[in-house]
Amino acid sequence: GEKTPAPSSGGASRRVLMFPLPFQGHINPMMQLADVLHSRGFGITVFHAAFNAPDPAGRPAGYRFVPVGVPADEDLLPTGSDADFAGALLRINERLQAPFQDSLREVLEEEERAAACLVVDSNLRGMQVVAERLGVPTLVLRTGGAACLVAYMAFPALCDKGILPPQDQSQLDMALDDLQPLLLRDLVFSTTTPHETMSTCLERIVESARHSSGLILNTFNDLEDAELRKVTNGTSVPVYAIGPLHKISAGAQSSLLAQDRTCLDWLDKQEAGSVLYVSFGSLASMDQEELVETAWGLANSRVPFLWVIRPNLVQCSEKVGLPDGFEEATRGRGMVVSWAPQQEVLGHHAVGGFWTHNGWNSTLESICEGVPMICRPCFADQMINARYVQEVWKTGFELEGKLERDKIEIGVTKLLSQAEGEKMRQRARDLKNKAALCIKKGGTSQTTIDLLVNSIMSF
Ligand code: UDX
Repeated sequence: GEKTPAPSSGGASRRVLMFPLPFQGHINPMMQLADVLHSRGFGITVFHAAFNAPDPAGRPAGYRFVPVGVPADEDLLPTGSDADFAGALLRINERLQAPFQDSLREVLEEEERAAACLVVDSNLRGMQVVAERLGVPTLVLRTGGAACLVAYMAFPALCDKGILPPQDQSQLDMALDDLQPLLLRDLVFSTTTPHETMSTCLERIVESARHSSGLILNTFNDLEDAELRKVTNGTSVPVYAIGPLHKISAGAQSSLLAQDRTCLDWLDKQEAGSVLYVSFGSLASMDQEELVETAWGLANSRVPFLWVIRPNLVQCSEKVGLPDGFEEATRGRGMVVSWAPQQEVLGHHAVGGFWTHNGWNSTLESICEGVPMICRPCFADQMINARYVQEVWKTGFELEGKLERDKIEIGVTKLLSQAEGEKMRQRARDLKNKAALCIKKGGTSQTTIDLLVNSIMSF
């Protein structure tokens, strides 16, 4: 079904095929990696689902986009924190496998021996199997952190021991010795996905890494050194920690929603370090009551805030909205947008804190700008990321339990105006500096990209 002709020139004799998982938090790092490889002279062929398709606009010559399959059915588009995300992942693999085989065959015929390898999202084991069948070497991109993958690798053994799934609530705070500082609750990835589905899903992720010719992670050595060593030991394949990708890639951004850039002008007018940025990524959701508590928590805290309320943030059949009186109470010091240019927002000098759901991209973006966090993880790897923010990097703290306005007010004040928050900010700045060093010439991520490029050339 592909109509765009392959670019005739551009100097790239080898092409890298890529297949991102069709969700924002996965498309971003894959397209950033594409850009990094393109800048090293490779042509790029992006296979993508027909839904949540990355926008080809703004990409230089040498890029080609190949849609695979048909637009999504409802069951492939989980929205909301209690959606069965793992189930949807399995269905996506099932649904895309056959059309991908046809597309890949076609592309291999057209591009002859130019295709060096397929870089596939670690959630797309089904596509990797297709590549294996057709003799294409694969690299796997894991878009989450190394700590999360270590936990996924440990999951089957914890099930065998009867520790997972937890038998009752009282076990949730059990420390997991081999996975310090994680607690058992951090490995309860979803409240709606059946245990069997979750096991299968995690098994495939780990399998994809072990079957690959190399595993690419969007993290850096100074951030997750011990965890990266565990990943290397546990997968027995070359591991490439080449993050933070968004800081290395200079390409067009790959946002699926239009970013409201007027908030940058608004930030320009705020005092340095004064603004709380509030965003829960592309999938997490809240109910109407939580929205109201959040609104009053922000209003009562009296700090300037920039709050992203995406169109489907609140999952509710009735018309929802901000509470009466909220706008008047926060006029002049609050801005609400439906989608923000997040990396630029976090890098803006006015932003002093980030209230986040701790998706890996958000977590990494915050770390790289030296912004401390209030953590409110919802599902998947987010609890693990939040635990590391709180216990290992100590650049933030979790807002636990039911969302209530008083709790929010206390948290926001602690982060932005108290000594404890200032210490977290200091540690965040240290990490920012480390991140900046690793992407400089001779830094660990740059050196590892060289290794990765050599490896691709050798396929
Ligand atoms: C999902 C999972 O939730 C997450 O746990 C996993 O690690 C990756 O996949 P998502 O929930 O969307 O991702 O969160 P996150 O990983 O933080 O990615 C969101 C991306 O959207 C970030 O790159 C962020 O910069 C961008 N974003 C977010 C915007 O561009 N504008 C916004 O307003 C909010």
